[in-house]
Amino acid sequence: MSDPTDQPSWQSLKSLAADTADQSLLDLFAADGERAARYSVAAAGVTLDYSKQRIDDTVRSALLSLAEEQGVPQAREDMFAGRAINTSEDRAAWHVALRAPHGAPMYDEVHEIRRAMAEFAAQVRNGSWVGFNGQSITDVVNIGIGGSDLGPRLICEALADGSGPRAHFVANVDPADLDDTLAGLDPASTLVIVTSKSFGTAETLANARVARQWLVDAGAAEADIAKHFVAVSTNAEAVSEFGIERMFGFWDWVGGRYSLWSAVGLSILIAVGPETFETLLGGAHAMDTHFREAPLDQNLPVMLGLAGIWNNNFLGLTSHCVVPYAQRLASLPAFLQQLEMESNGKSVTREGEPATVATVPTIWGSVGTNAQHAYFQMLHQGELAVDLDFVLPLSGPDAASDPRERERVANCIAQAEALMCGRDSAELEAELKAQGLEGEALQHRLAARRFDGNRPSNMLVLENLDAHHVGALIAAYEHKVFVQGIIWNINSFDQWGVELGKTMAGQLVGELSGEGESVEHDGSTAALVARVRRAWQG
Ligand code: F6P
Repeated sequence: MSDPTDQPSWQSLKSLAADTADQSLLDLFAADGERAARYSVAAAGVTLDYSKQRIDDTVRSALLSLAEEQGVPQAREDMFAGRAINTSEDRAAWHVALRAPHGAPMYDEVHEIRRAMAEFAAQVRNGSWVGFNGQSITDVVNIGIGGSDLGPRLICEALADGSGPRAHFVANVDPADLDDTLAGLDPASTLVIVTSKSFGTAETLANARVARQWLVDAGAAEADIAKHFVAVSTNAEAVSEFGIERMFGFWDWVGGRYSLWSAVGLSILIAVGPETFETLLGGAHAMDTHFREAPLDQNLPVMLGLAGIWNNNFLGLTSHCVVPYAQRLASLPAFLQQLEMESNGKSVTREGEPATVATVPTIWGSVGTNAQHAYFQMLHQGELAVDLDFVLPLSGPDAASDPRERERVANCIAQAEALMCGRDSAELEAELKAQGLEGEALQHRLAARRFDGNRPSNMLVLENLDAHHVGALIAAYEHKVFVQGIIWNINSFDQWGVELGKTMAGQLVGELSGEGESVEHDGSTAALVARVRRAWQG
């Protein structure tokens, strides 16, 4: 791993980007009848079709050389071997060990905790775990934020089957989040899972304290708290200080945004059952094996990462939109925002030097078809060019008879096609003329409807929206992020950038209430502090 710009392939890619700036995707398809197949890779029931990327054979081979030259294969081995690849914190990033089968490193420890989780989840699901007045659990509230929220939230939404208690997720410290959630629940039949790797996150602890009081106010004695409160953490001491008896642990080598496969997934086990959780892990493991073993050019996460590098670093597309065409994957963009931007939103190299290349682009998006009626206008005709990932889970013949299902799938495919093909000007002109338009009016309409196309996208097709395929999809994105981090020569596994704001908020909490010490602020912050204090003094 070193400065990517020193690699010969980086220089070739730069000139290829200049040469192919105007390369038409439709011309690439016209020249190669096999393009869709030759620019697709499949693994674990997920297919990545990157044929609508402005990539030809020469570009692809230069991108693959870049991956080799930057040491992706060796780095990948280091990750799978559990070496301390998170150098700024001197620890491994070993989430793959969480989904590895019997005999793998850490198997015993990982499985011991998972057995305990499965046993607990089974008791909650079969009604034998009861609350303070003998009622079974009907609702589970996961209190956590960031990686202690987004992963389990996404999976519970994706796989919800009604087989267990309802799962709720509270992340925001805005009182409305917890208060609105608890308002609809019966304390006697509610289980709270406080999920925090550090058990020091202010928002999570503030919400957990309020939830605890809610139980006490409803009649739970101190001794009953254990029936309604469990923790998921790596910090046993802080958990016990907080007064929670039962903790499901994990390890510092599990990064927050990579943690849904660990005890952080407890809400998943309770909502959909331990077997489904195992299937989820199995899907992720199938993708891990593929990532570890497949040649780079046939490697789905590698090609996903390289397509992103080409767009971001060479074509200047610094905005990346993810649109899952599945309501149950509505939280995927938010999950990927943390996964990609917290991992690769860095400007310092692994050696502590300023990064020499652009790192993660802006990641955003929302669910289709809704997104089409919000910002797709900009994607088709806006000045800022954006590249997209469409995520399309397929369904079986039963669903295909539902007209809404046909709309869902057709719209996804149509949007990718429209972005690439644009609108043929001659055809449009003929159509407008046939409507009787001519002269200036015709030119005006033509200009407004101009639709150049040639906008790149990936299509990720899942054979099914089930635990196996969702597990495989998430693992593919994790490895994409890894590949890109290695190529950019940054550490994808720390997040020092979030610390400063946390410290400042801690200081301001006291200052705003008038209880803490005042410190000197810039003019804007000082004015805001004064304004809030006036509002709070009534
Ligand atoms: O905000 C940064 C962060 O540390 C994330 O990396 C993490 O997922 C989240 O906060 C929550 O942290 P914890 O699980 O320790 O409460």
